[in-house]
Amino acid sequence: MNLQRTEQSPAAMAADAIVIGVHDDSPLEGSSSEVDKACDGLISKLLGRRDLATGECQTTSILAPAGVKADQILVVGLGSRAKWGAGAAYRAAAAASMALSKKPRQHVAFYLGHDLSSLQQQNIVAGAMVGCHGNDLYRREKDRHPFAKLSVAGVSEAAVTAGSTIGAAVNLTRRLVNEPADVIYPESFANEAEQIGRQTGLSVEVWDKPRLQAERCGALLAVARGSSRDPRLVIVRHQAGGAKPTLALVGKGVTFDSGGLSLKPSDNMKTMKADMAGAATVLAVMQAIATLRLPINVTGYIGLTENMTGGDAYKLGDVLTARNGKTIEVLNTDAEGRLLLADTLSVAVDDGVERIIDLATLTGACVVALGLDVAGLMTNDQSWCDTIASAAADCGEKVWQLPMFELYDEQIKAAIADIRNTGEGRWGGAITAAKFLEQFVAGTPWTHIDIAGPSFAEKPKPWQEVGGTGCLVRTLVHLLSSF
Ligand code: BES
Ligand code: MN
Ligand code: ZN
Repeated sequence: MNLQRTEQSPAAMAADAIVIGVHDDSPLEGSSSEVDKACDGLISKLLGRRDLATGECQTTSILAPAGVKADQILVVGLGSRAKWGAGAAYRAAAAASMALSKKPRQHVAFYLGHDLSSLQQQNIVAGAMVGCHGNDLYRREKDRHPFAKLSVAGVSEAAVTAGSTIGAAVNLTRRLVNEPADVIYPESFANEAEQIGRQTGLSVEVWDKPRLQAERCGALLAVARGSSRDPRLVIVRHQAGGAKPTLALVGKGVTFDSGGLSLKPSDNMKTMKADMAGAATVLAVMQAIATLRLPINVTGYIGLTENMTGGDAYKLGDVLTARNGKTIEVLNTDAEGRLLLADTLSVAVDDGVERIIDLATLTGACVVALGLDVAGLMTNDQSWCDTIASAAADCGEKVWQLPMFELYDEQIKAAIADIRNTGEGRWGGAITAAKFLEQFVAGTPWTHIDIAGPSFAEKPKPWQEVGGTGCLVRTLVHLLSSF
């Protein structure tokens, strides 16, 4: 897609469509009021008659308007003026882009908002890019068509660069999540990482099964035993921060989670190709920070395996020895994510990283606690968690912290080993999973983000397609931009 900023006035813009925004509680301003004047008050007239939908992300198209050069004006509701932040900007741009990309278009120009913050500018560009990419990877007749040319007004050159890089990263995450498990499996995911390494200059190291054995990754290897596909651990390095300490991004990459011998019911298994969303997010964020050449040191650690039921599958009651020497009694093979992450976190710790964020579709319990749209934060370091939560708030992505009281530790004590891979019963399941992970970070400041809910959408929203969502990519790139 050809993407550029424009200073052309909206009325004179030759395009298939121009996009303007209206708040539901404040007068027309900026480009919207310019367009209104050029069209002889048409927008105000329609607003007065309540013929324009002004609620957040609602869209109305005005075809063949007199007074502007474009063939169509798409009006998108921006919601209330007071809540108009970077998140609202992303959603409005994505909603407009989704509405317009239902058929092929040569040129669409965005004129959203007025006096935009730089974060809003980036998010408009990113939202416009995400909204026009569908999830119809294998449908012969596509229902979404990226615009041949996209112009965005009211944004700086830097915002175009950052926004398009972030938009590409969100779309990469979505694609990797939406691909079937027969296309994205540990080896092919590692190939994707290597290809991104070649394109961006990231250094990519891939550990195959013999290397994982040599590195004593006993927990990750146990999960992989039931699968005919070998596991991988991918290490992606971005080193542009000189002597600065290194931050680790750790991702859960279960490319298909059948539950193993603790087999999932069919209904719960349907979307388990998406159990690698954490891994996809880490890879996409690494791609973005390398493209933007952020002056920081970040390493991505991506643990990749299938969780299957083959003849050599790990069993309930098995005792595993993780890379850090701790022994784990397996009481449910469907609690596989924490096993894979145990070793992946240990690798990061052994590299001497200064801080860790892990991203994982770890528990259904987190979805029970917080619902489908909110990610759970759990930490051993409050200020690190606060930093992440505030970056998410800046971007309008929803996160909420869950407690990590010591009393939960009782629940993961095991009969014949150091720890067990499930809590006692289902209560507090998101937290007992995090408590398990905490055993493997060796006191390094760490925040665990459970994205089981928001990483995959089963229902569409006006601004978001069904399927992989790319949640938290924007937040993480924003966090790392100000690091
Ligand atoms: N991948 C699942 C968690 C999940 C559930 C992600 C729903 C996305 C949507 C994870 O591996 C899992 O199966 N967790 C179990 C843990 C339990 C056995 C202790 C769960 O949540 O039921
Ligand atoms: Mn599972
Ligand atoms: Zn899983």
